[in-house]
Amino acid sequence: MSVSHSPRIDLRSDTVTTPTETMRRAMAEALVGDDVYAEDPTVNELQQEAARLLGFEAGLFMPSGTMTNQVAIAVHTQRGQEVICAEGSHIYEWELGMMAAFSGVVPRFVVAPRGVPDPEGVRRAIRRSIHQSPTGLISLENTHNKAGGTVLPQEVMVGVREVDRGYQELFRSLRAGGWQRSSLRRTAVRPVGAWCCKAAGGAPRSGWNG
Ligand SMILES: Cc1ncc(COP(=O)(O)O)c(C=O)c1O
Repeated sequence: MSVSHSPRIDLRSDTVTTPTETMRRAMAEALVGDDVYAEDPTVNELQQEAARLLGFEAGLFMPSGTMTNQVAIAVHTQRGQEVICAEGSHIYEWELGMMAAFSGVVPRFVVAPRGVPDPEGVRRAIRRSIHQSPTGLISLENTHNKAGGTVLPQEVMVGVREVDRGYQELFRSLRAGGWQRSSLRRTAVRPVGAWCCKAAGGAPRSGWNG
């Protein structure tokens, strides 16, 4: 096996960033155990560290990015809902319609020049009518694979988070006002992280859900 000695960072995808010698050594020498019994110290540490870094309560290691994405969608949506995502998003473009097959949800694309959506476009895409399939999830892909690895500016991430917060407020106030017959009743846009680390993170194929 030929091993590259020069670290390479290529943001087209986490799959094309190659691990350094130190990363390879860490993988070879990692302590292992039975993950089902939560007895793999390396997996336990990775999950805790990932949760800490991203500010989540807990993390769950998964063996592929696609699995990570689809599990996140399944866990955070209900059948018949929509998932707002940037046009060209990996979760739809490269994942075989799995969100429909596994979770019974459909994508709702927002325009995203060079992979970067506009928070206002996200806000407009959120459904409000009982005649439409409710918004179940907002997905942000960072870096954006199909756009060639575009990094989302932080203000876009914060902007979308604010849109979500505003929406949650609206949801709470409608419920507090006793408004039950609304698509908002069934809709929750939740913060969820699906972090694909793979080669770049020193794990050959992995994803992480929070
Ligand atoms: C954003 C994103 N999600 C998921 C994947 C797929 O990961 P995997 O090949 O481990 O299923 C990729 C791979 O390029 C990706 O860029």
